[in-house]
Amino acid sequence: MVISLCLVLVTYVPLLWFVREIDGMPDPARRDLLMRQEASRQTGGLLMLTAAEQRLDARLHLLKEQEMSAALFPPALHFFKSKPLIRQSAVFKLLQKMPKGAALHIHGSSLVGVEWLIRNVTYRPHCYICFTWDNSVRFAFSARQPFPRWDCFYWQLLETLRSRIGDNAGFDNSLIEHLTLITDDPDGDYPNQDVVWEKFEKAFIAAAGLITHAPVLRDYFYQGLKELHDDNVMYAELRSGLSRTYELDGTIHDKIWFLNMFQEVTQKFIKDYPDFLGARIIISVHRARSLSEVKAAVQEAIQLKKEFPDIVAGFDMVGRENTGKTLWYFREALSLPNELGEELPFFFHAGETDDEGTEVDQNILDAILFNTSRIGHGYALAHHPLAKELSRKRNIAVELCPISNQVLKLVSDLRNHPAAVLMSEGHPMVISSDDPSLFGTTGLSYDFYEAFVGIGGLKANLGTLKELAVNSIRFSSMPPHLKDAGLAVWQNKWDDFVSDHS
Ligand SMILES: *[C@@H]1O[C@H](CO)[C@@H](O)[C@H](O)[C@H]1NC(C)=O
Ligand SMILES: *[C@@H]1O[C@H](CO)[C@@H](O)[C@H](O)[C@H]1NC(C)=O
Ligand SMILES: [Zn+2]
Repeated sequence: MVISLCLVLVTYVPLLWFVREIDGMPDPARRDLLMRQEASRQTGGLLMLTAAEQRLDARLHLLKEQEMSAALFPPALHFFKSKPLIRQSAVFKLLQKMPKGAALHIHGSSLVGVEWLIRNVTYRPHCYICFTWDNSVRFAFSARQPFPRWDCFYWQLLETLRSRIGDNAGFDNSLIEHLTLITDDPDGDYPNQDVVWEKFEKAFIAAAGLITHAPVLRDYFYQGLKELHDDNVMYAELRSGLSRTYELDGTIHDKIWFLNMFQEVTQKFIKDYPDFLGARIIISVHRARSLSEVKAAVQEAIQLKKEFPDIVAGFDMVGRENTGKTLWYFREALSLPNELGEELPFFFHAGETDDEGTEVDQNILDAILFNTSRIGHGYALAHHPLAKELSRKRNIAVELCPISNQVLKLVSDLRNHPAAVLMSEGHPMVISSDDPSLFGTTGLSYDFYEAFVGIGGLKANLGTLKELAVNSIRFSSMPPHLKDAGLAVWQNKWDDFVSDHS
């Protein structure tokens, strides 16, 4: 009784106050104060901007207003249609130059822009191609004609096929269609989530033969880091299954080889670009696997994290949530680290769904119960008040990937993305790109554009961008001393960026 009376008082006091306020003309000063109080809650709303930052902010505001009043507003369109508009946008050009910090949600198998895959990788010698019965492609590098397999009977040397066809540009464009989701007619080609996910998984399989060739994978990671660095990103955490890789003669390399190679490439890259902080891997297992397989994978990840403490950040479950098994299904596997007294940070994909109220929808709460360090996507989070409160309290950042959510058909007009709610209340958040190769993006600028202009709207400002960039370092898996060093490097870049453009 006492408790409920208190609740009543707590809920009624502000209401009474409000009722008094609407009695007659609201006080303009009070209105102004309320508006400022509300604005202060958004991402970056509490940051004090320097004079130079305020000048740049005013410029951005103006540019954004112009883009919002244009006939075609890019965030309202499908990315495959808006990309040419975004490339011309003055806001986008500024975002490209902005030091964006870290990319915390990218899949290793979809890291590099498809242009490079086609122009560089498929023109290497010994590259064979095969067309499957379901109109997909497979690639293999091989010293001699590859053996037929169940899905691939007739392998042709790509070089021979190209010279027979004679139209490299046309042929290469058809390869882009196989390796990405890109199309001129996304709404017609992808009428629903099932269709787009089917194509998505096919494209992954098609690219696998190219990028799991050991010499390619080395160059691929280097190129991937370079594309991020070119876009003013200074650190990355990649979800990766540590695929087995192969040599021309058929030799197969294991996960240890993979991690050693990744470490070498990263070190070489840092030597070539000393302002780059590094890259780590979140070991990922597909949610289509069985419980016992996932148990084994968790144990292996614990071991690999010990062997490669600077490279392995933690563990995740990947693959489409709607059709895959839930985190709760894997509970015995996911509680292993705790039971064994071992450390294995989790970075779960969760809530990449619009199936409200289903078992899948509970992944978001379960991710938090399993002590996830961040939430991949968290598209459903805005609908889960308790999970939202918990993730806020425990500083569990949402990895927002706007273009991915749009292309995979969770939302069409990005102004309606539920993360607008999270952003307006300053929920811990970072921006990332999920699968650059498949969506036709590079770096983070495209996703920053959609988040800043579409989801954030006119009220998102330079403070928002600054906080998002700082968040990406703060919420990374780097140990505290590296975060501090990274933030110092970032701050210098930021100050240069602001003074160059204010
Ligand atoms: C592909 O890229 C690598 C380095 O990333 C370079 O050495 C090689 O010459 C390129 N090959 C082609 C065919 O462009
Ligand atoms: C939760 O995860 C953090 C970061 O990985 C770890 O330090 C902490 O011990 C974990 N807590 C529990 C209860 O597992
Ligand atoms: Zn993802």
